[in-house]
Amino acid sequence: MSKELEGKVAIVTGAGDGIGKLHALKLAELGASVVVNDIGTTLQGKGEDKSKAQQVVDEIKAAGGEATTHHGDVANWQDAEGMVQTAIDTYGDMNILLNNAGIMRDATIFTMSESDFDDVVRVHLKGHFAPSKFACNYWRAKSKKTSGPIFGRLVSTASEAWLMGNPGQPNYAAAKAGITSLTMGIAQLMLKYGVTANVVMPRARTRMTLSGPTAPIFQKPEEGFDTFGPQNVVPFFAYLCTPRAERISGHLFIVWGREIKALTRPQTLEVWNAEEEWTVDSVHEQLAPSFEKLEPVKDGFTTPAV
Ligand SMILES: NC(=O)c1ccc[n+]([C@@H]2O[C@H](COP(=O)([O-])OP(=O)(O)OC[C@H]3O[C@@H](n4cnc5c(N)ncnc54)[C@H](O)[C@@H]3O)[C@@H](O)[C@H]2O)c1
Repeated sequence: MSKELEGKVAIVTGAGDGIGKLHALKLAELGASVVVNDIGTTLQGKGEDKSKAQQVVDEIKAAGGEATTHHGDVANWQDAEGMVQTAIDTYGDMNILLNNAGIMRDATIFTMSESDFDDVVRVHLKGHFAPSKFACNYWRAKSKKTSGPIFGRLVSTASEAWLMGNPGQPNYAAAKAGITSLTMGIAQLMLKYGVTANVVMPRARTRMTLSGPTAPIFQKPEEGFDTFGPQNVVPFFAYLCTPRAERISGHLFIVWGREIKALTRPQTLEVWNAEEEWTVDSVHEQLAPSFEKLEPVKDGFTTPAV
């Protein structure tokens, strides 16, 4: 096994369970010292349990790797700053931030409560923004000190829910769209410092996908390739964290099973121009023939699941 990340320091948020746990184990296996962040909460974000992050650290150490816990809340400003500081204080540097932590409280817009919306957007979107902010500040200061580009890797975790505009997840889908946009901005800003930033949308069997309507799809098959095994998505996330992935930044990927897919930027559907100032009637005259041919929603911007 190559130790490509020897000497590098990584933070994985939400690394006490699910995909994040496997990210932390893989980065440690590649030689990185890992800050295992996890508040240890339920799928719905209720309660805290420090033992989850500790177990992952114990597992990494038992395998000969290096890791330390951070039990803070990703969306808490001071905790996010403390997470980056933990890496620097413990290992003297911070090179990789893998944003992964998340919770879920599904409902349609009819029944979703204010707190279900606020909490899910907070943990995902602010929970990506806050650690990223302190990581980027550290990387920029480090680059200024050395007067040149440094090594930095930021990976964000979104979900195809945002590409579907998923009606059963208005909080989660909106947060994941925000994460994508946030990360694209970071990629532009951080390019000159030697920091890449990408977004990955995984499909994997965890407690998240084993709850609710997706459960039957994600079950482990009795035989044959385990398409939704969470271990399938991990090598790609880890690759994005390596020096070899330096040419990959500002991209959006879907990964699952044996497939890695990169998405293209949005395409222009059609452009209309007016010879004089637009009026409501002239808008209708120009646009109506095009939309006559398109099905509402089905041919819209997102890709509805049904
Ligand atoms: N499983 C999938 O197929 C899938 C699909 C698309 C996106 N994702 C995304 O992948 C990421 C990981 O999901 P998972 O399926 O492994 O879920 P999971 O529930 O198994 O793990 C999430 C982890 O995040 C931690 N966490 C939650 N809130 C936190 C907070 N405020 N601070 C710190 N830690 C916190 C939890 O304690 C848990 O250990 C999430 O961002 C999720 O939205 C997963």
